[in-house]
Amino acid sequence: MTKKISIAIDGPAGAGKSTVAKIVADRLSYTYIDTGAMYRAFTYKAIKENINMSSEEELVRMLKETTIELKNGGGKQLVLLDGEDVTKEIRQPDITNSVSEVAAHPFVREEMVARQKALGAEGGVVMDGRDIGTNVLPHSELKIFLSASADIRATRRHKENIEKGYPSDLAKIKSNIMVRDKQDTERKVSPLRKAEDAIEIDTSFLSVDEVVSRIIQLAKERIEAS
Ligand code: DC
Repeated sequence: MTKKISIAIDGPAGAGKSTVAKIVADRLSYTYIDTGAMYRAFTYKAIKENINMSSEEELVRMLKETTIELKNGGGKQLVLLDGEDVTKEIRQPDITNSVSEVAAHPFVREEMVARQKALGAEGGVVMDGRDIGTNVLPHSELKIFLSASADIRATRRHKENIEKGYPSDLAKIKSNIMVRDKQDTERKVSPLRKAEDAIEIDTSFLSVDEVVSRIIQLAKERIEAS
């Protein structure tokens, strides 16, 4: 039997990580793990329960009592927070605006990273996020870093929102993306950065199919070599 490798896909908001990671996982019959959804689900709960976002102690206490499950079903991934389906709710703008602040707390990350490492321990995963290649799965056989200009990333998110029927304002999305880039790259604990052994793909002028083909090709090479 061929070995199941693990694939880490990192990059800033809107670089195309989740779209591409889902398809790659599907083609390889691997499990897709969206780590951003875990931070989002937890942020959703923190907002609902009126937790002070700057209190790391309160957040960590709550996180320890929180279950977050990612379920693949019917071609879709469901996010369950304490057993409740919050897949749609975690994409709302108030969550998007607060999630980087929550994700910047070192002990929140420590707990999330431990959970993500456990999910990836057996291989056969495509995991996307900001610190997967550098921190969560540092020994993954294939590390990809997706990038694209802020303008292109904002336009993609805008289109995605419109397709899903969410209200959308391109200028606001762009400024939110730039604020999140800054928070994600400048935070002290495991900031967004390309792992030394990651392969960077600038997706600005590539189609989804082109990016997917490139990653599948690399994955096949790594599977054969492993
Ligand atoms: O990929 P996304 O937009 O759903 O991620 C939401 C936020 O979660 C993002 O602003 C940064 C944070 N995040 C993180 O800090 N580390 C990860 N591995 C994944 C996401």
